[in-house]
Amino acid sequence: MDRREFLQTGTGAAAGLMLLDARTAFGYEANSAVRHGLLGCGNRGTAVASSFSQNTTAQVVAVADLFADQLAAGKSHFDRLNASLGRSAIDAKMAFKGPHAFEELATSPGVDLIQISTPPFFHVQHLEAAVAAGKHVYCEKPMGIDVRQAKHAREIAKRVKPEQSVDVGFQCRSAPPIAAIAEKIKTGSLGKIAAVNGWYFAPASKEHPGSAGAPKDEYRLRNWLWDRALSGDILVEQNIHIIDLCNWMLGARPLKALATGGRNVLTHAGDCWDNYEVAFTYPGDVRMSFNSTQFGDYGMFDAGLRLFGAMGMATVPYSGPVEIKGAQPWAWQESAGTTAGSGQFAANGAFDDNLKFADRDKERTFIDSITSGPAHNQIEAGVETALSCMMGRMAGLTQREVGWDELIAHGESYEIGFSVEEFA
Ligand SMILES: NC(=O)c1ccc[n+]([C@@H]2O[C@H](COP(=O)([O-])OP(=O)(O)OC[C@H]3O[C@@H](n4cnc5c(N)ncnc54)[C@H](O)[C@@H]3O)[C@@H](O)[C@H]2O)c1
Repeated sequence: MDRREFLQTGTGAAAGLMLLDARTAFGYEANSAVRHGLLGCGNRGTAVASSFSQNTTAQVVAVADLFADQLAAGKSHFDRLNASLGRSAIDAKMAFKGPHAFEELATSPGVDLIQISTPPFFHVQHLEAAVAAGKHVYCEKPMGIDVRQAKHAREIAKRVKPEQSVDVGFQCRSAPPIAAIAEKIKTGSLGKIAAVNGWYFAPASKEHPGSAGAPKDEYRLRNWLWDRALSGDILVEQNIHIIDLCNWMLGARPLKALATGGRNVLTHAGDCWDNYEVAFTYPGDVRMSFNSTQFGDYGMFDAGLRLFGAMGMATVPYSGPVEIKGAQPWAWQESAGTTAGSGQFAANGAFDDNLKFADRDKERTFIDSITSGPAHNQIEAGVETALSCMMGRMAGLTQREVGWDELIAHGESYEIGFSVEEFA
């Protein structure tokens, strides 16, 4: 199967990956701009908002950030991008700075859609304000960094209005080869699935440019990726994409986890582990073994999963052949002949190879849900994947098996130990 065939049949067509519907449902004229406000003008936020601008009718009309330098860089980037697309620069009054920028953006009447691309610790707080203000929301994963935040997100999910659309940033599900193989798996091409193997081997994350010498709290915040309370740790922040694909393809969440891991190599600031090994058990005694590392830089990056069934085995990597071997063989033609693990890591999530169109297609489907409906509410699914990762993290930190009910009852809660008010 290739991209053209996929779009003509199955999930690709059903998801409405292409042009907007001409209807005026949900109050939008066909192809009229969705007014887009970006909260968190960093690497990923800028990449995703730029992709929305280039691939959909969304237009960045507002930016918000805690820090003045990040806000200024974001505003000038989108002023340039808007000019190149024949659109107006962002009004200076629509650039919000400081600890209350998220509330000012949320209550701004000139914004329809808020993209939350702040560090994970703040996602749920920022989601709550955006949902309460009636905005459509594109919120990055993870949906919370601890059990308390995840439960809070569940409550927020119930307040989303029927015409309000909320997406969570699991763009891998929208990558055409991954969406296509998922459809095969869900319709039984592998037979009874017995075991899954997942992996995420990434280079170390780099120090935020210009943060060296910053006061302690600011240094931590700018290098939030290194900090468990701010990020959730590598399992919850980064590896979550693979756990999400596993949950989605199995149509279930894990029941329990056993894990280990540690910080064996990294010496820079922070407390995130640099490796995890997790054994999840899913319903039906389906086992998933997951390995990850986040250190070094060997010019190698590899992430993906393999599902082993009675009739076949599916390989779903970020780079390399996406295929099913066995009784019902299948392959994504454009990935045939490519080399597994040959992809380049992209800190902003804009990967090439099998994920090349993941952001674009997710954004198009999301904008379509706003302009034509039906609206999305992906919060609960986002919470379930985040909790799955938290269960693995808790099992690793406690060095024993942790079950879902114990996790939910635990009330696990992380604090960052400072207030963002100090950056007012
Ligand atoms: N889906 C993906 O593939 C993918 C890839 C990379 C990052 N991400 C996610 O995107 C989010 C952002 O990551 P990034 O790499 O862009 O980080 P970043 O550090 O480059 O950007 C974060 C921005 O948020 C701002 N910020 C921090 N605290 C804030 C607050 N309280 N209020 C307002 N602004 C605040 C920072 O100043 C910065 O500009 C994270 O949740 C991360 O997990 C997702």
